[in-house]
Amino acid sequence: MHENQNTTPMPSLIYGTAWKKDQTARLVLEALKSGFKGIDTACQPKHYNEALVGDALKLSGIDRSELFIQTKFTPVTGHDPSAIPYDKDAPLSEQVAQSFEVSKNNLKSDYVDALILHTPLFPFAHLIAVWRAMEKIYERGEAKALGISNCYDLNVLKRLYSEAEIKPAIVQNRFYEESDYDVHLRAWCNAQHITYQSFWSLTANPHLLGSRTIMKLALKYRKSEAQIFFAYLISQGITPLSGTTSKEHMRDDLETDRIVLESDEIEQISSLLHH
Ligand SMILES: NC(=O)c1ccc[n+]([C@@H]2O[C@H](COP(=O)([O-])OP(=O)(O)OC[C@H]3O[C@@H](n4cnc5c(N)ncnc54)[C@H](OP(=O)(O)O)[C@@H]3O)[C@@H](O)[C@H]2O)c1
Repeated sequence: MHENQNTTPMPSLIYGTAWKKDQTARLVLEALKSGFKGIDTACQPKHYNEALVGDALKLSGIDRSELFIQTKFTPVTGHDPSAIPYDKDAPLSEQVAQSFEVSKNNLKSDYVDALILHTPLFPFAHLIAVWRAMEKIYERGEAKALGISNCYDLNVLKRLYSEAEIKPAIVQNRFYEESDYDVHLRAWCNAQHITYQSFWSLTANPHLLGSRTIMKLALKYRKSEAQIFFAYLISQGITPLSGTTSKEHMRDDLETDRIVLESDEIEQISSLLHH
């Protein structure tokens, strides 16, 4: 297996750039100024403005090597049909290649720290065809790691892992009750050293944030409930994504990897998730 050198480590929290539209550059710049080193985007104009992410990276003046930038390849079904950033009639391998060229151009960077498949494709042969094209990008050193998102079926992930030449290093999933918080999938990811990134961490879980357990811990640590929950996720080896639009919350979110919960407190929160 080809090993990429000089990779930037993934930060413990990543700034998400979805739904920010024409405010994307301003907010990404604010996030970088606040101290975020990781940025998540996608070559998917329906939800992300990747070019404005690139503008902010440039405007920040921060050396590219200090940042962890990840983007996604979005299959045709995930796009607004009027704004697909590649030839939708081209073979899958060509779609991936074209999308990645657009990403490099948008991000004004000749590599990304991670390239993530936005969603699994079926039949599995299509998923593998896309993955092979992503592996070529990795082999050229233009993606330092590969990942998959919205993959809730552990069998699909295991099959991808066994057939992939370059193994998935990241799974980016919605963190919510309906998937039982991916408890089995996360355990398997941990065993393979795959980093699990969470989204919807706050929005899908108001019942956890409003629980007595988390409210009590917020009082004890003099932190907000959101901060306690992010600290818990980090304690579980999860890398949360935050797309906050507030300067204050950016600071709060970045503080969370310094909140060290006691092991019995971690257990109390775990038991809220898996009762
Ligand atoms: N792979 C995928 O399919 C997929 C899907 C969805 C999202 N994502 C990625 O994940 C990122 C995050 O998305 P998300 O769905 O998790 O939601 P989000 O856009 O991060 O929104 C989180 C909500 O939590 C609030 N918030 C953040 N920090 C807070 C704090 N410290 N205290 C109180 N409230 C706080 C925000 O409000 P304020 O703005 O007021 O702080 C916002 O209302 C996206 O930008 C995107 O990059 C990926």
